[in-house]
Amino acid sequence: MIYLDNSATTKPYPEVLDSYITVAGKFFGNPSSLHALGGKAEKLLQQARAQVAGILGVKSEEIVFTSGGTESNNLALKGATMAAASRGKHIILSAIEHPSVSNAAEHLKESGFHSTIVPVDKTGKINVKDIIKEIKEDTILVSVMHVNNETGIIQPINEIGKALLDYPKILFHVDYVQGVGKVPLDLTECKIDLCSISGHKFHGLKGTGALFVRDGIRLHPLLSGGNQEKIRRSGTENVAGAVSMAKALRMTMESQQAHSDRMTEVLSILRKSVEGIPGAVIHTPEHGSAPHILNFSLSGVKAEVFVHALEEKGIYVSTTSACSSRHSKGSKTLLAMGVPQDLAESAIRISLSYENTPEEAEFAGQAMREAAIRLREVMSR
Ligand SMILES: Cc1ncc(COP(=O)(O)O)c(C=O)c1O
Repeated sequence: MIYLDNSATTKPYPEVLDSYITVAGKFFGNPSSLHALGGKAEKLLQQARAQVAGILGVKSEEIVFTSGGTESNNLALKGATMAAASRGKHIILSAIEHPSVSNAAEHLKESGFHSTIVPVDKTGKINVKDIIKEIKEDTILVSVMHVNNETGIIQPINEIGKALLDYPKILFHVDYVQGVGKVPLDLTECKIDLCSISGHKFHGLKGTGALFVRDGIRLHPLLSGGNQEKIRRSGTENVAGAVSMAKALRMTMESQQAHSDRMTEVLSILRKSVEGIPGAVIHTPEHGSAPHILNFSLSGVKAEVFVHALEEKGIYVSTTSACSSRHSKGSKTLLAMGVPQDLAESAIRISLSYENTPEEAEFAGQAMREAAIRLREVMSR
């Protein structure tokens, strides 16, 4: 199997599974319980929090464990705006945010909030000036993703954060879900107030994630209950999930150090192969995008048919993002970039992990070429 769908999800590291099983089996106490078993679980939870915080370069108290990227984004969007509603009700976001951000903003309309969607250019990049010019008296939050999940474009997060320093009352949320372990992001260098990560995107387990909440920022909780996570996220903590996610984060960061050149090489082999396919249009810009994502369309070839043809050879890729791949309206990101509807509807996404090798890329490249030529012949008959 050649797995090239790592932006949808990654295979958990065996060590991550081991640590989950150990913690879930041996330290199953409720961290809120007063007895020793509870105390051990609480200690492990706080150790995991300190590890995640240390890797992200922030304070332990600033990490809230969640169930993943969707929850982190919802908690940031809804929790922070609800808590700041007395200051204003206006939100700014980019046109290519993940649905867990854009739909959260949409739902906030029911509570009287309003949002401005800032367009992107044809590479998918947002212009800082376009954000700043949309700031109004009542703007309370700006949300911009770090790496786009469909094309891999990297947004100028540092520049946006620095520009927002002139507006201290506006919170800045960054969806870092696709960038973790692939494209460095310094949470302290620029004014990031809220930042989402998701364990299963970096070889952790599904149902694990975290939201960084800068010290002093108030959140209206989405879940009411036992006031865990300093009242920011009620519910008995997923200790084994948190411990295993901390391990996955550390291992991913180590892989980044050790294998980032290889990942760049693997993607460049795949890019060259796609460039060599007649009628291929690559949507991921060669510069300024993440090292693990390549998005392209093959004119005259249906994306689903192409995905299944590759699957027959044991190669797993996807049509756009996992959450939109079952609805074929066309990729929102590509349409926002001005890609024509027919190409936006037939986009393919390849996404790598540090485990992919140049040999796999050569094999997949050749298979893609053969499949494209064969399918185009069949479809033109
Ligand atoms: C950029 C981005 N944000 C958020 C999410 C949602 O994360 P999760 O699957 O952990 O809910 C995803 C998942 O694809 C994503 O790619």
